[in-house]
Amino acid sequence: MTRLILVSAGLTAVLFTSQTQGIPRAGFAAREATPLPCDAASFAPFLPPEAAIENVVSVPDGGSYGEGVTINDAYPWIPTGLPALCAVTVRVTTSPSSVFRFGLFLPSAEQWKERFLAVGNGGFAGGINWVDMAPGPHFGMASVSTDTGHNSTVGDTSWAFDNPERQADWGWRAMHGTVTLGKALTEAYYSRAICFSYYRGCSTGGRQGLREIMHSPASFDGVVVGAPAWWTTRIHNFITRTGMLNLPASSSSYISPTLFPLIASHVLSQCDALDGVSDDIISSPSLCTPDLTPLLCPAIPTTACLTASQITTAAAIYAPYTPSTDPSTFYYPGFLPSSEVGWSTLLGGPSDPSPLGTAYQRGFLLSDPSWPWQDYNDTLVPLADAADPGAANAANVSALAEYAARGGKLLLYHGLADAVVPPGGSELLRARVVDEAFGGDAEAVAEWFAMLMVPGMEHCRGCAEGTAAPWNMGGATQAAAMGVGEWSVPGYRDAEHDVLLAMVEWVEAGRKVEGVVATAWKERWNASSGVARQRVVCAWPREASWDGVGREEEPGSWGCV
Ligand SMILES: *[C@@H]1O[C@H](CO)[C@@H](O)[C@H](O)[C@H]1NC(C)=O
Ligand SMILES: *[C@@H]1O[C@H](CO)[C@@H](O)[C@H](O)[C@H]1NC(C)=O
Ligand SMILES: *[C@@H]1O[C@H](CO)[C@@H](O)[C@H](O)[C@H]1NC(C)=O
Ligand SMILES: *[C@@H]1O[C@H](CO)[C@@H](O)[C@H](O)[C@H]1NC(C)=O
Repeated sequence: MTRLILVSAGLTAVLFTSQTQGIPRAGFAAREATPLPCDAASFAPFLPPEAAIENVVSVPDGGSYGEGVTINDAYPWIPTGLPALCAVTVRVTTSPSSVFRFGLFLPSAEQWKERFLAVGNGGFAGGINWVDMAPGPHFGMASVSTDTGHNSTVGDTSWAFDNPERQADWGWRAMHGTVTLGKALTEAYYSRAICFSYYRGCSTGGRQGLREIMHSPASFDGVVVGAPAWWTTRIHNFITRTGMLNLPASSSSYISPTLFPLIASHVLSQCDALDGVSDDIISSPSLCTPDLTPLLCPAIPTTACLTASQITTAAAIYAPYTPSTDPSTFYYPGFLPSSEVGWSTLLGGPSDPSPLGTAYQRGFLLSDPSWPWQDYNDTLVPLADAADPGAANAANVSALAEYAARGGKLLLYHGLADAVVPPGGSELLRARVVDEAFGGDAEAVAEWFAMLMVPGMEHCRGCAEGTAAPWNMGGATQAAAMGVGEWSVPGYRDAEHDVLLAMVEWVEAGRKVEGVVATAWKERWNASSGVARQRVVCAWPREASWDGVGREEEPGSWGCV
């Protein structure tokens, strides 16, 4: 048995220098039918001293595995109907004050297709994301997920106070260590080299995938990121400031969340047809400039109208974030028309901005758990840019060019109705790649970077109730949203409909992703209710175009132009 090569130098030196380019791949014998026994003794010899096996469990075909709500606050869901696999949990010490854990699913040697998959997390959630690992073994992939070095729910950063080591684990180190050790254990288990490595994650998970290839371009061959919160030092400040646009609830400019659907349906009536098809979906929100004055309250206000100061609040939600002292300085894009129903997440109050913002200022930036958000001001943006706590920003586009140069592929998808992470941030990242790393050559970028902007999709999954905008396309968290036994798009588990399988075709068969067919169900999260609509989402800058003949609900009536 080849002993893998995480020898004496110790984890910090071996795993966390930028020189480390994955695991040596030479020296494996030809295909061996028998993997190691699924027990702790098999794996322990392949770990460095800083790492220890916590748990090894053999899961039978059709079985389930996870930690459940008593152990895992962040990801309590237990995937069911798994193929036979070996589930491994590892604990890794990264400093005297920080530890991360990761989980690894290893399908049977017969089912393993020499593929590796890492999956991401969401917000500040600290837990192994078992349910997002589950699709991996169904696709012949060994899969890993890390708790990112803490145990908490999505908006809790109490673990980060005054602890730069834990911040670094969340920022990049736990993912990098998980990928490195996960690959080592995978190759040891099968005594075979991994041929193809993938990543899939959304939101924070999108950031994690980008951050990892910026650190180590060789980590993956194909990366699928949704709604990436890549610009950490901006997005969490943007979120706090956006919440404050609609506070306090006693102010005359406060828009009650009960009015968000009214604004949504007004904007829909104004803008639906601008993209050429009246289908209750705003497919080109950039063509839409909402005019809310028709909603202005009459002399005797009704419950279905807006005051002038509420209209001013709404305008600020669409506008980019610029510092009040200098409106010509850009801080972050605003939300697009069609996002209105989703405003309740960040702007629904009633008393505080979302912890997705304030937990960053409190836990990372100011290390002050009792910092009052009322003290927020625009100077926190440059402060965050300069400090970048945990080195979490995934903003280095030159490093993405290195990833491209060694053949890596990137698929980014983002819902245009996203009201948590503005889709403009993804367009900005792509524009920076084109301009700063490829000298303006958008076609060269399109060879390895496909960006799919999904009309009507909200943050990572779903569409506004009643709109039936096709969204289900195999993005991170989407299978689990349909049920803990699902691992792809129900009934459509193929490369035409699932972004991860589309990426596999791109990497392994050279078929570039031009578009993926997204699905909406009659009841949002219920595949048994039947398909409401299917429609291709095209790689930017092309957009889906109706042929003007076929039923608009049918995928065959649409092409990319
Ligand atoms: C995470 O914290 C919860 C309490 O909130 C605890 O019950 C659980 O055991 C912890 N999990 C781990 C892996 O430490
Ligand atoms: C901005 O906020 C920070 C953090 O609350 C505070 O330290 C700083 O004094 C504030 N600056 C201004 C100009 O108000
Ligand atoms: C960005 O990545 C490139 C290529 O890996 C590297 O040379 C450079 O130092 C990085 N820049 C920053 C600011 O980290
Ligand atoms: C899903 O839809 C089916 C078919 O309409 C229905 O029988 C079932 O009750 C629905 N499930 C849920 C959880 O609503």
